[in-house]
Amino acid sequence: MFSRRSFERFCVLVLGLAATGTLVEAGPCDIYASGNTPCIAAHSTTRALYNAYTGALYQVKRGSDGTTTDISPLSAGGVANAAAQDKFCSNTTCLITIIYDQSGRGNHLKQAPPGGFKGPESNGYDNLASAIGAPVTLNGKKAYGVFMSPGTGYSNNAASGTATGDEAEGMYAVLDGTHYNGACCFDYGNAEISSTDTGNGHMEAIYYGDNTAWGSGAGSGPWIMADLENGLFSGSSPANNAGDPSISHRFVNAIVKGGPNKWAIRGGNAASGSLSTYYNGARPSVSGYNPMSKEGAIILGIGGDNSNGAQGTFYEGVMTSGYPTDATENSVQANIVAAKYATAPLTSGTALTVGSSISLRATTSGYTTRYIAHTGATINTQVVSSSSTTALKKQASWTVRAGLANNNCFSFESVDTPGSFIRHADFALVLAANDGTKLLHEDATFCPQTGLNGETSSVRSWSYPTRYFRHYENVLYIASNGGVHTFDSATSFNSDASWVISNGFA
Ligand SMILES: *[C@@H]1O[C@H](CO)[C@@H](O)[C@H](O)[C@H]1NC(C)=O
Repeated sequence: MFSRRSFERFCVLVLGLAATGTLVEAGPCDIYASGNTPCIAAHSTTRALYNAYTGALYQVKRGSDGTTTDISPLSAGGVANAAAQDKFCSNTTCLITIIYDQSGRGNHLKQAPPGGFKGPESNGYDNLASAIGAPVTLNGKKAYGVFMSPGTGYSNNAASGTATGDEAEGMYAVLDGTHYNGACCFDYGNAEISSTDTGNGHMEAIYYGDNTAWGSGAGSGPWIMADLENGLFSGSSPANNAGDPSISHRFVNAIVKGGPNKWAIRGGNAASGSLSTYYNGARPSVSGYNPMSKEGAIILGIGGDNSNGAQGTFYEGVMTSGYPTDATENSVQANIVAAKYATAPLTSGTALTVGSSISLRATTSGYTTRYIAHTGATINTQVVSSSSTTALKKQASWTVRAGLANNNCFSFESVDTPGSFIRHADFALVLAANDGTKLLHEDATFCPQTGLNGETSSVRSWSYPTRYFRHYENVLYIASNGGVHTFDSATSFNSDASWVISNGFA
């Protein structure tokens, strides 16, 4: 007969084997539970994180009528029912309104409220993420991650069961290693309950990006660091830990864990292989970080004071009670690899050919003789026809290029001004020379999809997937359906954001 202790060891063995698919299936939170560091928050829009979980993963809200629906796994422990989202969101826009906590503690993530920094919404809240910005497949089944543009944020300032004070916790997050920036702060984890900076050691969250204001690792980034408040730490030194490498796999598993005067950063490729440890040791010697003063709120995509300039993509992540062993985390990594994250198409509808010239005609009633053109740096619509001047035809013609920031989408180079591309800047579309910067490349990358009016094409911003090419008073913007700007008006949005793409005039 098993003693209780050996029974527990047996369970660990079963669940450990499960991670390799040999015995019963175990989700990441089953593995953490077997290691006596249970999940107290489990968030994912892509899959269930417990083998028995059948509840809602996330909620989406559609622009057409403002109604919401919950998206659940296809089966217990399975991948999200992306087809249910696609059906609910067809011919309109959808936002992710809630990322549910699967742990049973109700630690759901919702639109982050204003804090030390205010969000872009009129009430100071952060923006919600598009429901379609981060399509992937898991074991061949379609799902959507959470693509967060600057200004987007989720939080829960009344979480239960999270570590407070100097209590121990663990966290992992699966992220897109190609989507980041240097602004503060793309975080997931433990933060202030007031959304304000209450001092050193009041946070303990995973950070991902190439911010160098506080700390950094080897190379030019991006890095996994820990946001401990008033500092992004790559190790015990506030400045630099050469052992924390730049890490930019398409799918990154990022881990931070912390307990009384010890903490660690670990990471790896979430699609293959094992984890490495980038820091494991004492707390920073700077005052305020030992002991910690964790407050136990949960943030996603923002800093603890609601700093919301960062960008990144979140697929799944958890927070635990207790300091997980490396072995437990290694089993979770094996489970994530077995989930087989892979990229999925970002575009749909009319196929574009790189190198071809296209013109884009408005579909709004009364405007259907107008095409996307430019007058100097301004992108606008102008009436163009076969009898127009050659100069105007060229102004309304665009050479299709592979997306400067992501070659699964496209960039549009001016036919009459080679080397200049349509980009967004302050949400207006402008013609700008390719200066080679990451920001220009991202702002000039667009993902055409089946038109929001159910026909033709809509052209989504890669970096702000809630936003589409939209004409408003004959000027082009990237507009979100019913957003805060006048050009975001929901009136006529679908028509104004749908275009007939044809061979270029020139
Ligand atoms: C979407 O729009 C197309 C074209 O107008 C229409 O045929 C289709 O039924 C619409 N789908 C839904 C779900 O409303």
